[in-house]
Amino acid sequence: MNILITGGAGYIGSHVCIALLEAGHNVAIFDNFCNSRAETVERVAHIAGKRVGVYRGDVRNEEDILKALRDSGAQAVVHCAGLKAVAESQQFPLDYYSNNVAGTVRLLQAMQACAIKKLVFSSSATVYGRPTQLPLSEEHPLSANSPYGQTKLVVEDLLRHMSRSDAQWRIAILRYFNPAGAHRSGLIGEDPQGAPNNLMPYIAQVATGKRTHLNIWGNDYNTPDGTGVRDYLHVVDLAHGHLLALQYLDAHGGCESINLGTGVGYSVLDMVRAFEQACGKPLTYQMAPRRAGDVDACYANPAKAAQLLGWRATRGLQDMCRDTWRWQRGRSSDVQPTADCATA
Ligand code: NAD
Ligand code: WQD
Repeated sequence: MNILITGGAGYIGSHVCIALLEAGHNVAIFDNFCNSRAETVERVAHIAGKRVGVYRGDVRNEEDILKALRDSGAQAVVHCAGLKAVAESQQFPLDYYSNNVAGTVRLLQAMQACAIKKLVFSSSATVYGRPTQLPLSEEHPLSANSPYGQTKLVVEDLLRHMSRSDAQWRIAILRYFNPAGAHRSGLIGEDPQGAPNNLMPYIAQVATGKRTHLNIWGNDYNTPDGTGVRDYLHVVDLAHGHLLALQYLDAHGGCESINLGTGVGYSVLDMVRAFEQACGKPLTYQMAPRRAGDVDACYANPAKAAQLLGWRATRGLQDMCRDTWRWQRGRSSDVQPTADCATA
């Protein structure tokens, strides 16, 4: 199948590209490189040993997308493009609605114009808001704690409406829990600009010496050691879920929301200890006040993914830490992202 991956140069998208290429699909990336580098595309092609089409464009520009859809001969789209930082979304809500909501509307219009009606969408466990029951199943009530979360809710609603209005649409909404880790090659991984917001990349930068210490945001949560508990899943497992979702959509119509998580929660201190093992040195941390909006614990009930897709996470915390460390050690931290990109 020919598949267009929006945001395919990003952290998750680049791993999805490899999973799809290795399964024999033809992949083209559509990205404006606002949070990624052109060299990632070369690395994806190198790892998979296959050609990858690249279209530089913005999902908010329908002409850009139409050209990419037509020229790539896309039969399905994996939509990873978007902005993802919770705190930034509070500061710049318009950017978030513009990229994540308006961008998705444009993409769907372009897909409709090309009669391409198979879509996998990157949603997030953030749509569950503050959990009232754990583990989180797909039936848990939805709410948003941030403009970012609200953009995911709006797009999810839109996709359900699209599906109800036209039975030809086949849509998988994948609700990611906490992606972590990197490709085992050490060639691609998460590459945050500035200070990382997320735990794993922050810990990795403490391990390399780029950051002096980790602030642990709160040790008075209702969890076994008082620090926040999350469901971290390896990005390669997550990427594999997209391949299985596309296979599912080959045989099923409608619109399904599916959790991708391990079902296991680890605390911040668990993560620090696991990373210490992987990098072979102690990491400096200090306790700090709670971060606004954080919840005690959040982890998935992944039964639906197992039942519908036959998906389950196969990699554990040690794999995530080892692969993150390999990636972090291997990369040059002073290379700046580039907007240059060969177009197909
Ligand atoms: P990322 O920033 O690494 O990748 C996103 C990619 O989209 C980047 O390459 C960026 O350049 C591109 N992009 C952004 N806006 C664009 C636009 N308007 N037009 C074209 N390209 C654009 O982020 P990621 O971690 O790979 O996240 C991918 C998706 O998964 C996002 O939708 C995010 O909300 C969702 N998600 C991420 C996490 C996480 O913790 N990483 C968790 C849940 C959901
Ligand atoms: C994990 C735990 C922090 C950093 C966020 C988004 C969510 C999704 C994934 C996109 C928490 C603690 C963190 C630090 C810390 N993204 N922490 N010190 O908050 O579960 O989810 O990313 O959809 O929408 O909200 O992930 O990695 O930021 O935090 O103590 O420097 O680590 O308090 O307990 P979170 P995270």
